[in-house]
Amino acid sequence: MKLPSATATDLNKPGLRHFLKTQDFTKQELTEILDLMTLLKQARKDNAVPQLFKGKSVAMIFEQPSTRTRVSFETAATILGGHALFLSPKDIHLGGKENIADTSRVLSRMVDIMMARVDDHKTVADLAEHATVPVINGLCDWLHPTQMMADIFTMMEHLPAGKDLSDLSVAFVGDATNVASELMFICTKFGMDYKHIGPAKYQVPQKWIDIAEENCSLSGGTLTITEDTNAVEGCDILVADSFYWFGQEAEKDDRLATFIPEYVVDQRLMDKAGPNTMFMHCLPANDERETTREVMDGDNSLIFDEAENRLTAQMALLVYFTHKHTKPADDAIAADHDAIIGDFLTKL
Ligand code: CP
Repeated sequence: MKLPSATATDLNKPGLRHFLKTQDFTKQELTEILDLMTLLKQARKDNAVPQLFKGKSVAMIFEQPSTRTRVSFETAATILGGHALFLSPKDIHLGGKENIADTSRVLSRMVDIMMARVDDHKTVADLAEHATVPVINGLCDWLHPTQMMADIFTMMEHLPAGKDLSDLSVAFVGDATNVASELMFICTKFGMDYKHIGPAKYQVPQKWIDIAEENCSLSGGTLTITEDTNAVEGCDILVADSFYWFGQEAEKDDRLATFIPEYVVDQRLMDKAGPNTMFMHCLPANDERETTREVMDGDNSLIFDEAENRLTAQMALLVYFTHKHTKPADDAIAADHDAIIGDFLTKL
């Protein structure tokens, strides 16, 4: 017979959910997160963020470097009254002395939520499978869902007059990156007209297209996949991303030769898109490679609002995924423990 556990951790969390990809969530649920972002951003403006993560911890596992994701999660935890732990493979046993399942079960006993940036989607999926706390995908080879919450929120903040999200036309130019996949899924889910513009050799795979087309059939959005950069004409938002990422260094020369100059989001392409087209990039950007400094610093660039909204998103995600599992404070029970432990300490 299995021994009863002596855990003080709530291992049974009804309704526990993970944030591995936006596609796992309905439009209504994603809108709830966006609405929470609005409230928390306003509270941050007023320097009055409710302490909704007080006494809680987020374990942040990073297999790859990060500026925005790391700093935004760590800062979000602090602003909300909690704590973030930065864990790189150099610091913990993950994937070396200890398998993912055991690491996940141990961390679940000590922290309230995990976030992982991983080389392979399977790693974050395995973490989630064995976790008894929510797991957030902080980027993998396939997806980047936390970036998407910041991106859609940034679009909401800069909606052209008279338009709502479903009226937007979004064109992504470049490689089929983890940002491209998420953007394609969430834009089609919200009923936007979405275009992926890139060379045939590095186009989006059919399995992504199937997901996005299913989204369009439900939302009324449209999907266009094309090699033709003239397709940027008239779009509200033009998005660029890196031409190669970690693990693709061997393909660097071929990729750069394929993408440059045709798929560089430079002023030529911005002009082709139109005078009101806004520019987005998740950053870090290689200026003078997939885009130019002129476009990044241009009047129509949203890139630094977009980067700041990573913090807005992480505040909302930490709260959204933990609040259901937070026991309400009971002052009487706390006072009892205080008295008993205080009495114990005075006798030492
Ligand atoms: N956009 C993004 O994920 O940035 P970092 O790699 O700096 O986290």
